[in-house]
Amino acid sequence: MEILNCRMLEVGLALLCLNALVLAAPPKREPGYDAWLRYDAIDDQATRRAYDQLPAVVATLGESNVMKAAEEELRRGVRGMLGRSLRVESRLPAEDAILLGPLDALRKTFPALDRNAALKADGFLLKTTKRDGHAYLIVTALNDRGVLYGVFALLRRMALGEPIAALDQQENPYAPVRMLDHWDNLDGTIERGYAGPSIFFANDNVVDNLSRVRDYARLMASVGLNACSINNVNANPRVITSAFLPQLARVAEVFRPWGVRLFVSVDFSSPQKIGGLDTFDPLDRRVAEWWKKKADEIYGVIPDFGGFVLKADSEGRLGPSAYGRTHADAANVIARALKPHNGVIFYRGFVYDHHMDWRNLKNDRAAAAYNNLHPLDGQFDDNAALQIKHGPIDFQVREPASPLFGGLEKTNQVIELQITQEYTGQQRHLCYLVPMWKEVLDFDMHAAGAGTPVKQLVAGRTFKRPIGGFVAVANVGASPTWLGHHLAMANLYGFGRLAWDADLTSRQIAEEWTRQTFGQDPQVVQTIVGLELDSWPVYEKYTGPLGAGTLTDIINIHYGPAPESSEYNGWGQWHRADDKGVGMDRTVATGTGYIGQYRPPVAKLYEQLATCPDELLLFMHHVAYTHVLKSGKTVIQHIYDSHYEGAEAAAGFVKRWRALKGRVDEARYEEVLARLEYQAGHARVWRDSICNWFLRKSSIADAKGRVGHYPNRIEAEAMRLTGYQITDITPWEAASGGKAIECVSRDRQCAASFRYDGRAGWFDLDVQYFDESDGKSTFKLFVGEQLIDQWAADDRLPTTKPDAHASTRHRVRGVALRPGDTVRLEAVADGGENAGLDYVEINPAEMQ
Ligand code: GCU
Repeated sequence: MEILNCRMLEVGLALLCLNALVLAAPPKREPGYDAWLRYDAIDDQATRRAYDQLPAVVATLGESNVMKAAEEELRRGVRGMLGRSLRVESRLPAEDAILLGPLDALRKTFPALDRNAALKADGFLLKTTKRDGHAYLIVTALNDRGVLYGVFALLRRMALGEPIAALDQQENPYAPVRMLDHWDNLDGTIERGYAGPSIFFANDNVVDNLSRVRDYARLMASVGLNACSINNVNANPRVITSAFLPQLARVAEVFRPWGVRLFVSVDFSSPQKIGGLDTFDPLDRRVAEWWKKKADEIYGVIPDFGGFVLKADSEGRLGPSAYGRTHADAANVIARALKPHNGVIFYRGFVYDHHMDWRNLKNDRAAAAYNNLHPLDGQFDDNAALQIKHGPIDFQVREPASPLFGGLEKTNQVIELQITQEYTGQQRHLCYLVPMWKEVLDFDMHAAGAGTPVKQLVAGRTFKRPIGGFVAVANVGASPTWLGHHLAMANLYGFGRLAWDADLTSRQIAEEWTRQTFGQDPQVVQTIVGLELDSWPVYEKYTGPLGAGTLTDIINIHYGPAPESSEYNGWGQWHRADDKGVGMDRTVATGTGYIGQYRPPVAKLYEQLATCPDELLLFMHHVAYTHVLKSGKTVIQHIYDSHYEGAEAAAGFVKRWRALKGRVDEARYEEVLARLEYQAGHARVWRDSICNWFLRKSSIADAKGRVGHYPNRIEAEAMRLTGYQITDITPWEAASGGKAIECVSRDRQCAASFRYDGRAGWFDLDVQYFDESDGKSTFKLFVGEQLIDQWAADDRLPTTKPDAHASTRHRVRGVALRPGDTVRLEAVADGGENAGLDYVEINPAEMQ
């Protein structure tokens, strides 16, 4: 209608009308593939006018692929943001120009650049200067990669609307190692991957079409990441066989223009498994010779190959212990093979025994990395680095910094973070991890007196180590959104930015990312930044507060609540909850002694109940449920309250996001909304599961009377059932009341109904059901004979059982009910999935 009216207007007015339409139109649909490199047209007039000063020419001094990538990126960015095509020159033009080139080449013409001698490898300088009456915007660096990073920094400035006149911006990376690790298997599956199959491998080969890998390398380069290991640490030895190397070479070739060096994970028994030797003993001369030949062969095919990642003697992987050798022996035999080629080995510090006796209260997995590796400090070669997970356990929602960071003085170390949300909601829950990483990176280990935060130790600054930096497990997949949740991409971006500049704040990073990813609308920016910043504390609240661990199923899926699974097994992620108290006693005085691995000022802080921070209390101490926290609450009441607060905040995320309707493009708006709605439902599953489990353990009631009392809930097992059968759910805390119903009738069609006896009005109905990965059941909801809604259980949650991983809800908003109405659910079960139902909750309708 509006369009018609516009067409009828006179030509002079038509333009105005068109403008009005453009402004009113919702943003164009975006799949999310461009991530933060959208280069959206700048529509702020003042900014555009300022950028009009940008020269029309780009001159690139240098021929390499990296320089070409830099130039193309600049043209692409300027075209996107300003709608202009830069003219390309290969020599210094006698007109205003943007100059891209290594410092060596540029300083002949611009001797003043000499003064910027503080540049380091990969660092860059953006500088505006005049010569012979022409204005030049110079992007320069010691190496080509630095120029590429400079171009990305310039484009970022523009995407953020920052001034580009009178530039004099010099940046150096915080550390030389800025790397992503993939846990991709050669068959295309991904260990702990939550965003579709691998972008690198399929059917035991490297994929034919590497265009996604190219786009990924571009994303990495845009935030300064310079290395990537592409296969699972639980490595298939085939990856370095002669037959496979040409395939690796193809990946390296795609990485190369973006300055990303290829690494692979290797199997320590490779000399035996693929080398034909009868041993892989690192001190056997034939083994050393084999690794050397293998390295020579790889570098013959990939001259800029980065090196290896090695997981040995951990979780069943073979390692030096098979021959009574040390981890240093293992790392060094490979380091020496890589050395002539400037290659590096990252030796994983994640070494522990997963068959520990849980009955022995002195056993402690947290102590393993330090116990295994600290005694070897000084024995690792200079081109080996220990790759240490940020906490002593395994990427839990909160852990203290690994004491190993503070213990090593004569060994290179890098920190390993995890972008893939293995224990933090698997990209179905929003959990912005940058604040969590920052807490660890900024934590003062007192390794060389006060003022030695983890970030400086791992960067090699404190003890002047030649290698140091940041590694993260990334696991992007073939999903159009890369990580499966649009908002999770802030973690990938954030890791890169932190690795480049560990002093950036979580808010700065979130803001930069949001504005590049979603545009400049202040309401959009404020809302998304707020959601991101709130998300980790909220996730912690409704999962495992007070440092108890994530309280998830630790044996297998690592997703939904399963607090019982952490006990009585050899894996050692114990929380030691019994009928009187909870927490691991890791003190020196009475516990496992783990705290003694920290330097004295840190150990003192954790050892004393009085000084140990509440958020790590249960990591460090075993206390009674009635122990009073610094907040004045008892531990048990804190557990209840935090779960209720967390679940409520997660429900609030949905409301906050809904306010952005029409301001974010529809595709991303709807997809994020769906994830947040799901999260709100699953947060409630977490809340009920954990609270009821602790209620049963402790026998201490919730002072606010919520736990175990759900007045608006109709349990499925209390409904009138046709074809459905009541089942005990395992573990019991995965279902409301420990029971649910499953459709077991032969024709697989079942129904459950109940009579509504409450007051008349408008209500939101939450149908809580089990959506497994082994079927696609369908549900219909009727009130009386009227079909109100229907849906399919097709979310493919990560389990084939009706448990807390599968428990999800369908919310039917705004249903009119009056006393006497029959509410009926009809289900058709499918495959291995029995259309399991847990309950229906009827709440007053929320205002939209
Ligand atoms: C965790 C994770 C494994 C992974 C291991 C590792 O335990 O669950 O899948 O292999 O870490 O980092 O090596």
